[in-house]
Amino acid sequence: MAHEVKGVIATAKGSPVSIATVVVPDPGPGEALVAVQACGVCHTDLHYREGGIGSDFPYLLGHEAAGVVEAVGPDVTGVAPGDFVILNWRAVCGQCRSCLRGRPWYCFATHNATQKMTLADGTVLSPALGIGAFAEKTLVAAGQCTKVSAAIKPEVAGLLGCGVMAGLGAALNTAGVTRGDSVAVIGCGGVGDAAVLGASLAGARTIIAVDVDDRKLEWARQFGATHTVNSSNSDPVEQIKALTEGNGTDVVIDAVGRPETYQQAFAARDLAGTVVLVGVPTPEMRLELPLQEVFGRGGALKSSWYGDCLPSRDFPMLVDLHLQGRLPLEKFVSETIALDAVEEAFAKMHRGEVLRSVVVL
Ligand SMILES: NC(=O)c1ccc[n+]([C@@H]2O[C@H](COP(=O)([O-])OP(=O)(O)OC[C@H]3O[C@@H](n4cnc5c(N)ncnc54)[C@H](O)[C@@H]3O)[C@@H](O)[C@H]2O)c1
Ligand SMILES: [Zn+2]
Ligand SMILES: [Zn+2]
Repeated sequence: MAHEVKGVIATAKGSPVSIATVVVPDPGPGEALVAVQACGVCHTDLHYREGGIGSDFPYLLGHEAAGVVEAVGPDVTGVAPGDFVILNWRAVCGQCRSCLRGRPWYCFATHNATQKMTLADGTVLSPALGIGAFAEKTLVAAGQCTKVSAAIKPEVAGLLGCGVMAGLGAALNTAGVTRGDSVAVIGCGGVGDAAVLGASLAGARTIIAVDVDDRKLEWARQFGATHTVNSSNSDPVEQIKALTEGNGTDVVIDAVGRPETYQQAFAARDLAGTVVLVGVPTPEMRLELPLQEVFGRGGALKSSWYGDCLPSRDFPMLVDLHLQGRLPLEKFVSETIALDAVEEAFAKMHRGEVLRSVVVL
């Protein structure tokens, strides 16, 4: 039996999102039907509606979610009805080239999720990152459901499904920040602040938060930033160097994803340091770097997809740290909103008023 639920749809490039009736079928083999309880508004949802990720409109937005499994397909054994789960966009398949080479955090099966949800007139919807969770129910691949302790609040848990995991993982997994390191984070939205928090958790000694908005810098301090730089009125490269005895930081994380922020990250990095790009660029962006310095400065220029996380390894561990009071995920939740307030949440994100607006269903 198909379910008719409300969902947030992006119908055309640049058009405001709207609420529509979404038809969600019952789970087939390998699938799970999830009653969504909370879903954060991530900048990537805005990228989708602006056509920055693809042109497979209409999109069913939302991908940073937690909820309860309502039904599973006949062959599903990993999760069961009643399980509290965080949805992930990396359902490790175990069979692709990356999985077989023992590097499951590069699994290619990410977007193989089901495309069976439709509008009432039968138009097939593209679920954002294979999830589509700005909806009362969604249909996902069962591997996209990671069971965690139900003691955590859904609006907090869901954040681990995307932005917060991406930021934490950029610092912990991709950069491998360790005790005593110096780290700079450019762009302190939800993703950047999670990178600040990750660096702090790993024991970094100096954590420099860079943003163009003083409000964001103040929040970054609450996540562990030891210094802040407003790059709208000063040169962040000079400032980062001034704070590190002229050296630059061991790690620079670009959580904006623009050519100019990447160039800043490249230049603000210590010799043989690491740049991690976690902000998502758009197709027309081009980068120019002095090749001689790419060689001469050594180190590593890396990108972080989803914080190089393994949901089954990382989500339950991070939920436990939160429940023990060691990972203040609740500080990312600026407001909880209803499904029909997503467009307004995009505007608030654009104006820099929120870290995360979270839809609660
Ligand atoms: N790699 C991944 O797996 C992954 C996962 C989730 C999100 N993302 C991406 O990460 C990026 C950040 O997402 P978010 O949800 O934190 O967005 P956000 O809008 O909440 O935060 C962006 C921050 O960057 C700041 N900023 C903008 N331009 C700047 C500049 N030139 N210099 C310094 N700061 C600047 C803004 O003031 C804001 O605080 C987005 O591109 C998003 O798509 C990547
Ligand atoms: Zn795989
Ligand atoms: Zn996201």
